[in-house]
Amino acid sequence: MGFLISLEGPDGCGKSTQIGYMKDFFANEGYEVVVAREPGGTKISEKIRDILLDTDNMDMDYRAEMFLYAAARAQLVHEVIKPALDAGKVVIMDRFVDSSAVYQGIARGLGVDTVYEINDIGLNGVAIDLTIHLDLPPDVGLSRKKSQHEMDRMELNGDDFHSKVAEGYRELAAKFPERIVTIDATKSVEEVRDDILEVIKRML
Ligand code: TYD
Repeated sequence: MGFLISLEGPDGCGKSTQIGYMKDFFANEGYEVVVAREPGGTKISEKIRDILLDTDNMDMDYRAEMFLYAAARAQLVHEVIKPALDAGKVVIMDRFVDSSAVYQGIARGLGVDTVYEINDIGLNGVAIDLTIHLDLPPDVGLSRKKSQHEMDRMELNGDDFHSKVAEGYRELAAKFPERIVTIDATKSVEEVRDDILEVIKRML
């Protein structure tokens, strides 16, 4: 069996940059690495992503939103994650089921347990070995995003929503301390990279 690592945090916490470093680290150590982002990562999941992030869909029901994220994830598990783990590869996820637990479960208020229960069906037995939580005050992340591109449907949620997300990740990390490691993402890119790699080396 392979190894599944997820990277989580509020919008604009710097996940993509760090995923590049993580990928290089594992490749240099001789592992086969697969990287995927959520929502997306397969043809079908990318179509669901378009529906989820489209600013035309501001009236989407929170429950419909939860199921769409779960559906995109189920397809990714089926097509990419499970086959890679079965082949002994390292899978690095840019967001995974904890994003749903925080955004839909806590920030939308649908409940963390409900969200995990719904998603369990699509995970089909896949379990996360390690989750890196990049902790950042919400205003910092969002202003980074605003300067990069036009805001998508999720980013357009108000400051209150994004505060709940940032707080929600802290709650979740406290709930699963053996799996989720929190890293201060206000530090420099290089410092965050070193902190993450230290956690990974300890795990291996
Ligand atoms: P994306 O552009 O990928 O954001 P980021 O670069 O911050 O990862 O957009 C994904 C958005 O969807 C982001 O606002 C988080 C949200 N999201 C959920 O609400 N639930 C989920 O299960 C996932 C995976 C993402």
